Amino acid sequence: MSKSIAGFSKLSKSKKIDWIVDTYFLNAENAKGILKQYWNNNDKLQQLHDEFIENTITNYYLPLGVAPNFLINDRLYTIPMAIEESSVVAAASKAAKFWLERGGFKTKVISTTKIGQVHFIYKGDFKKLKQFFSQVKPKLIEDTEAITKNMRKRGGGILDIELRDKTSDIDSYYQLHTAFETLDAMGANFINSCLEQFAKTFKNEALLFELFSEREKEIDIVMSILSNYVPDCLVRAEVSCHVEDLSEDNTISGKALANKFIQAVNIAEVEPYRAVTHNKGIMNGIDAVVLATGNDFRAVEAGVHAYASRHGSYSSLTHAKVKDGVFTFWMEIPLALGTVGGLTGLHPLVKLALELLHNPSAKELMQIVAVAGLAQNFAALRSLTTTGIQQGHMKMHLMNILNQMEANDAEKQTLTEHFKTNTVTHSAVTKALNKLRV
Ligand code: MEV
Repeated sequence: MSKSIAGFSKLSKSKKIDWIVDTYFLNAENAKGILKQYWNNNDKLQQLHDEFIENTITNYYLPLGVAPNFLINDRLYTIPMAIEESSVVAAASKAAKFWLERGGFKTKVISTTKIGQVHFIYKGDFKKLKQFFSQVKPKLIEDTEAITKNMRKRGGGILDIELRDKTSDIDSYYQLHTAFETLDAMGANFINSCLEQFAKTFKNEALLFELFSEREKEIDIVMSILSNYVPDCLVRAEVSCHVEDLSEDNTISGKALANKFIQAVNIAEVEPYRAVTHNKGIMNGIDAVVLATGNDFRAVEAGVHAYASRHGSYSSLTHAKVKDGVFTFWMEIPLALGTVGGLTGLHPLVKLALELLHNPSAKELMQIVAVAGLAQNFAALRSLTTTGIQQGHMKMHLMNILNQMEANDAEKQTLTEHFKTNTVTHSAVTKALNKLRV
């Protein structure tokens, strides 16, 4: 039976590992060996990783792949992707190549505003609260000057603070709803520090506001936190070509392909069961680049899915049309990303990924990430509406199956060749491998 432990975080790394392997594993030495296998021999690098979080016991590897040939606003990129799913990088590369020959991707940042809120309870007259807010607003800004100094120097900072009456939702509930421009930083720490300072100033100044009754002076701050819903931190990515250029061979016309493609997008626009999978495919591309560039994929996921539901029903993030013989496929998506601060200056692979992308600004990274999402969705819909996805997926999955069966290099080579012209299924691979081995 497992047991609880007090003071675990204070133990040394090796003591933590000893406790874990002794408590949870039948073969403690084997478990310890696996954990150690993933350590880096470079002590400094390992320490860096140890210190990213608490209670690190080893590193968790994901492959870092690259998808070349992305032409974005006439500039070529090779996009780094950290992901475990077999077919994602292959699909991105295929879509990149396809659009490279058709003018590439066009992108535009629409807006870059982020939001943070101080949520508070005030039991009193709203008119007086409004008066108090107008009076205290300059002081709210003034008291954050030390925090915002550097950001302001570079052209960012606090854009506006609004008092919002939310009492129709919850009794006595109000907000200081604040808009920020955080430039190349994702800005979470910056925003949260400003908000916590607002909360302090707001609460303290209320105690001195003469028009408030004793009860009204007691403003109760519930919390101060940024929002990961960023509908005004928006980027657009688009591809287009003449309808006939959509077809790569004679098996199906460009027009027929475009029609099927648009039908698939229309379904995702109206049918949430499909929209979730459709958008999941987009996130395959987005998360992989977000992760490779040291950004917070949970924040991006939360914001993107909220945006996909903004009209009251979960819907497709991408759209497609044909007009005057031109097929256009596009997406507008909220992405709060940073290229300075956080992991971006710390993790050597993140630094490398950013350099590979020509050291982008946050705005440029928004465009690259959006393209990775659009490309992924294009590849998925193209397969789904023609051959189906399993053909491509299982081809990519073949190596996983062979590794599970501990195939050696020669066996892998022979079977990769064999399955170029045969359907990959788990049982077909087992059978072919067993046949090789007799
Ligand atoms: C698989 O990870 C993603 C897809 O299911 C996306 C889609 O259905 O559009 C292929």
